[in-house]
Amino acid sequence: MRVQVAIIGAGPAGLLLGALLHRAGIDAVLVEQRSAEYAPGRIRASVLEQTTVDLLDAAGVGERMHHEGLLHDGIELCFGGARHRIDLKKLTGGKHVMVYGQTEVTRDLMHARDAAGLKTIYEAEHVSLQDFDSARPRVRYQQAGATHEIECDFIAGCDGFHGVSRASVPASAIQIHEKVYPFGWLGLLSETPPVSHELIYSNHERGFALCSMRSLHRSRYYLQCPIDDKVEAWSDEAFWAELRRRLDPEAAESLVTGPSLEKSIAPLRSFVAEPMRFGRLFLAGDAAHIVPPTGAKGLNLAASDVGYLSRALAEFYAGSETGIAHYSDRCLRRIWKAERFSWWFTSLMHRFPETGAFGQKLQAAELDYLVHSTAASTALAENYVGLPLRD
Ligand code: APR
Ligand code: PHB
Repeated sequence: MRVQVAIIGAGPAGLLLGALLHRAGIDAVLVEQRSAEYAPGRIRASVLEQTTVDLLDAAGVGERMHHEGLLHDGIELCFGGARHRIDLKKLTGGKHVMVYGQTEVTRDLMHARDAAGLKTIYEAEHVSLQDFDSARPRVRYQQAGATHEIECDFIAGCDGFHGVSRASVPASAIQIHEKVYPFGWLGLLSETPPVSHELIYSNHERGFALCSMRSLHRSRYYLQCPIDDKVEAWSDEAFWAELRRRLDPEAAESLVTGPSLEKSIAPLRSFVAEPMRFGRLFLAGDAAHIVPPTGAKGLNLAASDVGYLSRALAEFYAGSETGIAHYSDRCLRRIWKAERFSWWFTSLMHRFPETGAFGQKLQAAELDYLVHSTAASTALAENYVGLPLRD
C-alpha cells in the first residue's frame, strides 16, 4: 500500500489528524493495534478548550458536540469548608470551555471516518517504523499471520505513551523530562445528576477531590488516593462517604449517589519528550507528552499538536517546508505552558505528605490570594480556558 501519511494509533490524536488531513485532501491510513470496539471504552477527561472545539468543527465532527456538550462559564474552588467561583467568562473577556466526554469525541471521529470510507487497519500486530530518516519511510505490521508494508511520505506517531513511535527513535536523539507525583486519582462514573452545574476542585486536608460531569444526568468524581491504593479496596459506599467529607457542607448535603458504572485508579505524571520531529516522523499527543489530569489539558494538547501537524503537511504538499520545520518548536512552546499550568494546579490542589505544615500554610495562602486577587484569578482562568494557538 502507498499513502501520503501513515498514522500510528487511532486514539483521539490519530483520529483527529486523519479527519483534518482528509479535509485538506491528503491521503492517510490509520494503523491501530487494538480492535475498533476497544477504543471508545476508555474513560478520560472531558473539558474542551475553544481551540479544540474549533479543530473538531474544522474536521467536520462538531455537530453532536454542539448539541449535547455543556458550555461552562466558570469553575469552583473549594477549600476551608467553602466554595469560591472563578468566573472564567468575565476574567477572559468572554471565553468558556465545553464539557463533552473524550469518549464521545472519539466516537464522533470514528463515525465520521467510517462515513467517509477512510481506511483504518485495526488489530495490527508488531507495528514497526522503517527509514523515517529518509524520504521514503515505511510502516510494517502483521495481521492474521501475514506481514504488510505501507510506503508513505510521512509517519505520524499518535500511538500514546506506551506506543512504538517514540520508542523507535534512537535514545541519543531524544530528551526526556519527567515528574511522577506521589499519589493517584480514584475515579468513579455514575448515572446521577452532577452535584453542581459547574466543576468543583476541592483542596481538603484528607486530599483533593473533583466533581465533574459527562452530561446533566451523568457524573464523574475523583479522589486523591495513595499511589499503591487498590480499586477493589473501594466500595461505592466508601467512595461516596469519602467524597462527602472532602466537600463543603452544602455540596455534601446535595450530592446524589448511585451505583458506579466504572471505577479506576490513574497515576499522575508530567512527561515531555523533545524534539517532536525526527526526519519524516512526527510525534503527537500522548506519544510525546503527558500532563497530570488536573485542568484536563491532555486531550487539548493532543488536538493542538495535530492541528499544527495537519497545517504543516498541507503546506508541504502546497510546496513549503516551513510548517514541518517549525512543527516541533510550535508544539513545544504550547506544551510547556500547559505542563507548567497542570503541574501548578496539581501542586495547589493536592495534599503532598512530604511538604509538612510549612508547605500547607503556603498552599492555603496561595488559595486565599488566588480567589481574592483579580490578577491571580485571571492567570488561572486564561490557562484553564486555553492559551491561544500561536504561529
Ligand atoms: N501500534 C499501533 N497502535 C498503537 C501502538 C502500536 N504499537 N501502541 C499504541 N497504539 C494505539 C493505542 O491502542 C491507542 O488506541 O495508539 C492509540 C493511542 O491513543 P491514546 O493513548 O488515547 O493517545 P492520544 O491519541 O495521544 O490521546 C491523547 O487522550 O489518552 C488521552 O490523556 C490523553 O487526553 C489525552 C488524549
Ligand atoms: C473529567 O471530567 O474527567 C475531568 C474534568 C476536569 C479535570 C480533570 C478531569 O480537570
